[in-house]
Amino acid sequence: KHSFPLFVAIDGPAGSGKSSVSRAVARKLGYGYLDTGAAYRALAWHVIDQEVDPQNADAVAALLPDFDYTIGTEPDAYFVRVGQTDVTDAIREPAISAAVSAIARVPAVRTHLTELFRTIARAVPQPGVVVEGRDITTVVAPEAEVRILLTATEEARMTRRSAEISTQSAHTVAEQLRSRDRADSQVVEFMSAADGVTTVDSTHLDFDQTIDAVVEVINTARNSH
Ligand code: DC
Repeated sequence: KHSFPLFVAIDGPAGSGKSSVSRAVARKLGYGYLDTGAAYRALAWHVIDQEVDPQNADAVAALLPDFDYTIGTEPDAYFVRVGQTDVTDAIREPAISAAVSAIARVPAVRTHLTELFRTIARAVPQPGVVVEGRDITTVVAPEAEVRILLTATEEARMTRRSAEISTQSAHTVAEQLRSRDRADSQVVEFMSAADGVTTVDSTHLDFDQTIDAVVEVINTARNSH
């Protein structure tokens, strides 16, 4: 029997539908949910709020000891706070998306947030927790009971992002997605599955089918533990 909640680690690139799928899977199984990208984004928000240059690694690292961050782990009551400020919506602004890759590149930031993720995930009540990001299957929780790489072709990911951000041209969306993939890939390898990681390709699946495919991987793994 597990003393900690069953750990479901899900990695994937931008536009793979990772966040919405992970949250829906958590809701369906009655698990907790942790969006680690939101923590990187919250730190980016804090860096900008403190008028620190996101490119200045030392100045960014110096903010870590006082980075007071709270995230909701219930899929139906999701929120992100820095200090007393609710930043749930603010961290999705383009200015944050533009600054976050530089911050995620700082080794001290990755170490600090990785520790935080492990602590938060362990504190989630039974029976399980879905943790999603870029390095969950490889760095944060390589020992996770369930490890999934959620992929989709670049074209499929661009189409989904364009539907989300209808005010921008398809060209701008494609450029932003490619440049984020490029920047993120320099930090962690998340485009191909590590050993023991199950790939779920959502290119030809709709939202509900993707949820079902992920749940099936979880059920198969759960039965073998
Ligand atoms: O998934 P997202 O777009 O919210 O992620 C925001 C940024 O944080 C993105 O640039 C990748 C980075 N990130 C990371 O480096 N490691 C994680 N585990 C999660 C996100």
